Amino acid sequence: MATVLIKNLGKYVGEEVTVQGWLYNQRGSGKIKFLIMRDGSGLLQCVIVKQDIGEDVFAKLKTVTQETSMKVTGIVNEEPRATGGYEMQVTGFEIVSIAEEYPITHKEHGVDFLSEHRHLWIRTPRQMAILRVRSEIAHAFREFFYQHDFVLADPPILTPAACEGTSTLFEVDYHGEKAFLSQSGQLYSEANAMALGKIYCFGPTFRAEKSKTRRHLMEFWMVEAEMAYCDMDENINIQEEMVYYVIQRVLNKCGNELKILGRDVEKLKSIQLPFPRISYTEAVEILREAGEDFSWGEDFGAPHETIISNHFGLPVFVHRYPTEIKAFYMKPDPNDPKVVLGADLLAPEGYGEIIGGGQRIDDLALLKQRIQEHNLPLEAFEWYIDLRKYGSVPHSGFGLGLERTVAWLCGIEHIRETIPFPRMLHKMYP
Ligand code: 4AD
Ligand code: MG
Repeated sequence: MATVLIKNLGKYVGEEVTVQGWLYNQRGSGKIKFLIMRDGSGLLQCVIVKQDIGEDVFAKLKTVTQETSMKVTGIVNEEPRATGGYEMQVTGFEIVSIAEEYPITHKEHGVDFLSEHRHLWIRTPRQMAILRVRSEIAHAFREFFYQHDFVLADPPILTPAACEGTSTLFEVDYHGEKAFLSQSGQLYSEANAMALGKIYCFGPTFRAEKSKTRRHLMEFWMVEAEMAYCDMDENINIQEEMVYYVIQRVLNKCGNELKILGRDVEKLKSIQLPFPRISYTEAVEILREAGEDFSWGEDFGAPHETIISNHFGLPVFVHRYPTEIKAFYMKPDPNDPKVVLGADLLAPEGYGEIIGGGQRIDDLALLKQRIQEHNLPLEAFEWYIDLRKYGSVPHSGFGLGLERTVAWLCGIEHIRETIPFPRMLHKMYP
C-alpha cells in the first residue's frame, strides 16, 4: 500500500493509502472520531467509525493527544467541505509516539510565548504555509538564474573586511585574527563575475543591527547577482524580470498557502511589468507633496518608503541616491557625481526596500579614493582593488533580502515569521 503526502491525495481517490504524520486536532463521540492529521504538506480529516474498525482498536484512540505521531491508513474520498478537499475513511492506524501535553494549544497565544517555543510554533498551519512559500520562492530564484545562464558562485561567510559599513559587523575570533561574518557576498561576487561573467549567490548574511523593527533580522538570506559588462539600467531590467517571475511562481504554486494566510492575491495579480523607475530627487518631491518635511540628502526611513510605494501601488525602483549616503563601491553618475548609479526596489503595501543594488566603481583611482574617504583599511581591500587593475569592466549587481520578500508575498506583518529560526535583537533562543 502506498504511503502518500496529504497534498497528493487527489491522485488516490477511491484507493486505500497510508498517511504518516502528527495529530493536529480531534473531535468526536464514543462511536465516531474525526482526527485532523498533519504531515507537513497539508491537513487531512480522518474519519474513524467504531463499528468499522472494532471496539478494541477504537478504544486505543482514547490515548492519542495533540501532536501524537501516527500512521493512518484508509480510503481516500472527495469531500469539498474538508480542508484540501479530501477525507480519509480509516481502516487502521499505528501510534508511533504518544505526545506529552502540548504547550501550544488551539487557543490564542502571545507572540513572546510562541517565539520561546519557535521549535514547536513552526508546526502550526500558518507557519507551515509561510515556510512552504519561502521554499518555493528560493527555488524560483535558483531556477530563474539557471534559465538566464548565471553561474552559482558562493562567497565566503568569514571575511577580513566590511562590505556594508563598519557599524553592523559581527566580529569573530579567527585563530587569533579578527574576522567578520559576511554582511553581503558582493565584493567576492564581483571577483567571481570577472571570472564567470554572470553569477549569483544565495546564502546567509549577517548584520549586527541595533534596531528592533519588523523588517530587520541579525541573520538573513540574501540572493545576490553580479554581472560583468552590465550598466545600471540593464541591472534594473533583470531585477524586475526576476521579481515578476517569482510573483507568478508563488501565485501559481502556492494558492493553498496564500489562502491559509489570508493573502489578498488580487494585489499580487495586478502587478505588471515594467515597474516604475524614479530618481531619488523625484522621490523627495513625492514626499514633500505628501506633506513630509524632508531635506535632499537624507536617507529614507520606513514611513518614507511607504509613502513612495503607495504613490504607485506597485514595486518601484528608486535610483540615483546621494553619493554621501551610499556604500563606498557605488559608481557616481558621470553626469552628476552628487548621486550614484544605484537603485533600490521598494515593495508595495509598505514592505519597504527589498533590493539594494547598482553599478560598481570600475576606475582604479576612484575606488582607492572612496575606500580611504570611508576610512576603510586599504590593505584588506587589495585583492578587491586588483579587479580594477586586471581587465576592469563596467559591472553591476544587486542583493535581494529573502525574508522581506517572503513577508511581502505572504502579506504578513513581521519578518520574524519568515524564517524557521529568526535571530532578533537580544533574542537567540531557540
Ligand atoms: O541594501 P543592502 O545592504 O545591499 C547590499 O548588501 C549589497 N551589497 C547587495 C548587492 O548589491 N549585492 O541589502 C540588500 C537587501 C536589502 O534590500 C534588504 O532586502 C535585505 O538585503 N536586508 C535585510 N533583511 C533583513 N534584515 C536585515 N537586517 C537586512 N538588511 C538588509
Ligand atoms: Mg540597502
